[in-house]
Amino acid sequence: MDTTGTLFLPPANSTIAPEVDALFQFILVTSIIFFLIVVGGTAYFIYKYRKKGKDGFTADISENRTLEIIWTVIPIILVFIIFFWGFKTYLKMHVPPAETIQIKATGQKWFWQFDYDNGASSTNDLVVPVGKPVELLLSSQDVVHSFYVPNFRIKMDVLPNRYTVTWFEAPRQGEYDLFCAEFCGTSHSKMIGKVKVVSEREYNEWLEASSNPGEGLSLEEYGAKLYQSKACVTCHSIDGSPNIGPTLSGLIGRTEQFTDGSSLSADENYIRESILNPQAKVVKGYQPVMPTYQGILKDKEIDALVTYIKSLNKTGE
Ligand code: CUA
Repeated sequence: MDTTGTLFLPPANSTIAPEVDALFQFILVTSIIFFLIVVGGTAYFIYKYRKKGKDGFTADISENRTLEIIWTVIPIILVFIIFFWGFKTYLKMHVPPAETIQIKATGQKWFWQFDYDNGASSTNDLVVPVGKPVELLLSSQDVVHSFYVPNFRIKMDVLPNRYTVTWFEAPRQGEYDLFCAEFCGTSHSKMIGKVKVVSEREYNEWLEASSNPGEGLSLEEYGAKLYQSKACVTCHSIDGSPNIGPTLSGLIGRTEQFTDGSSLSADENYIRESILNPQAKVVKGYQPVMPTYQGILKDKEIDALVTYIKSLNKTGE
């Protein structure tokens, strides 16, 4: 298997990748050959039948049945080869094997959320064991996203109100880029993550640790971790600079003006409401683009985030 990549393709790191690449190479080489035939033929005929002198006219050619059959039949055969080859690989990519590790993947503006069997969850980092088929059940909380891992050669639309399925098996450990391949709004380009392929032992340890992620941390430390891991950081700075959303620095006690004309001195309840029902109060000058975290964050996690945001008043401005 190709581990270095080529001019046209990144390194291949899934069991399906060689098949996809072979088809790609076949289409590429066929296209180059026909490009040369067409361009070479055109150049040859331009030269051969150029106007020679004042009375040099080209012969009147009306028909050549043999030629017409050849240039009809050969492309038809090629199109059929590409179709059946592509369809066979397409089915393989979209019908998971019987025994898989099932993970729920949710796309949301603008991060990925992964939920595992034992209740563990992760944001933007998908952790999977090496050499095991992994099946992803995909859906979106808002608009259309697309789950794209170039190294695995898989790309699948992620739709609201409907599930899609894809699967892969990574034969080698490593970290592979994960992108959103469907333009989904302002921070589409920040909707990136990693697929972390680890040994089975590491995977089980990770699952164990992630099912109880706040263990051994103070609420504030846990909140700081969640601020990163739940992708708050994508839109809210902690250094006072505005981003997609208002900065969290100095938030408690700050008087926020809202788009409906009302205002309020930010407190714990306002933060909680903004996490669970972000459209209830939208700060003036910002778009109502924050997704709800209802059903994504547990109460303890919200407590931790509120505690962390409060702590920013002490360290911040
Ligand atoms: Cu999600 Cu682009």
